[in-house]
Amino acid sequence: MFMTPLIAAPMAGGTTTTALALAAQVAGAFAFAAGGYKTAEQLAAHMAPLRATGVDFGVNLFVPRSTPLAASAALELAAYRSELLATASRYGAEVPLTAPPQQDPRVQDFWDEKIALLLAEPVPVVSFTFGLAPAEVVAQLHRVGTRVVASVTSAPEAAAAAATGVDALVVQHASAGGHTAAFLPGGGSTSAHATLPQLLAEVRSAVRLPLVGAGGVSSPAQAKAALAAGAIAVALGTALIRTDESGARPLHKNALADPAYTHTAMTRAFTGKPARALVNDFLRDHTATAPDAYPEVHFLTAPLRAAAAAANDPRAVNLWAGTGWKDAQAGPAATIIAEFLHEL
Ligand SMILES: Cc1cc2nc3c(=O)[nH]c(=O)nc-3n(C[C@H](O)[C@H](O)[C@H](O)COP(=O)(O)O)c2cc1C
Repeated sequence: MFMTPLIAAPMAGGTTTTALALAAQVAGAFAFAAGGYKTAEQLAAHMAPLRATGVDFGVNLFVPRSTPLAASAALELAAYRSELLATASRYGAEVPLTAPPQQDPRVQDFWDEKIALLLAEPVPVVSFTFGLAPAEVVAQLHRVGTRVVASVTSAPEAAAAAATGVDALVVQHASAGGHTAAFLPGGGSTSAHATLPQLLAEVRSAVRLPLVGAGGVSSPAQAKAALAAGAIAVALGTALIRTDESGARPLHKNALADPAYTHTAMTRAFTGKPARALVNDFLRDHTATAPDAYPEVHFLTAPLRAAAAAANDPRAVNLWAGTGWKDAQAGPAATIIAEFLHEL
């Protein structure tokens, strides 16, 4: 389905630039455009140059939460807002008084308009994360000739995804950088401590779909192990953050190479959804209290994260990183991709 065993993972929030996706494509990887956080107009501009190459590519979207925030989470959110005030004042930043409501297009991540765009101007592959696209949307995409990929983190999630009619799965292990793709409580996981190859084998026995392994793949040897466990391809995320074409902030790229950081951890502190990041002050201070409220927490912390970044202060910035972050190299993306492809 992907014609290559290497995939440049979608990294929304600025890391996947059009230039990074194009460089990955030219180097022989399958490139994903990152549709998350973008409006339809921004997505159209991001993917136009990829479409122009004539080479297959994918577009990744976030599946928005379909229900309003739980009452308990709303209460915790208010408490969390108070907790953030001191941190925000250090950066001269505001903490918004309220989060945008459920029906706000930003909370819906501009879902309707982006699905409309992808149906009007079809692309070869669309992948989803944070949840399952309704079977009807999968069918609509199929009718316009698009193959559909769902992201899952466990065998139960894989079975649920298969039931919606998707063509392939990204199997994301907990070692992955950035947000988890999990959508069942606790990821629906029965084996939280399995390695990526073990997780792939488990999912392999639950569904017959082609699988892409993602999470912690930082060396060709790890990529090979995932392929040997039954994946048709592996996705690189963290391994590409420091590349020349990546749009990650310099402070994020530098942090990945800074020996002062010694761990990554999963946290809801930045956005309200578990995500793996380098352990910094903000993560340490707020992980225990951050509510399960994505994307409300994302909007609450956005001004203070932006202010910290503008002050070139990584202590309150979301430094997304997978467990293999120490292997992430700077330089042209093509060099890194060529190194992997050479050995696969
Ligand atoms: C900075 C960053 C942003 C990410 N954004 C997205 C995204 O927009 N959509 C998505 O499906 N996955 C996203 N991910 C997860 C990657 O697609 C992929 O699953 C993960 O990076 C693989 O693990 P690794 O980081 O250890 O290579 C992101 C990961 C990182 C590090």
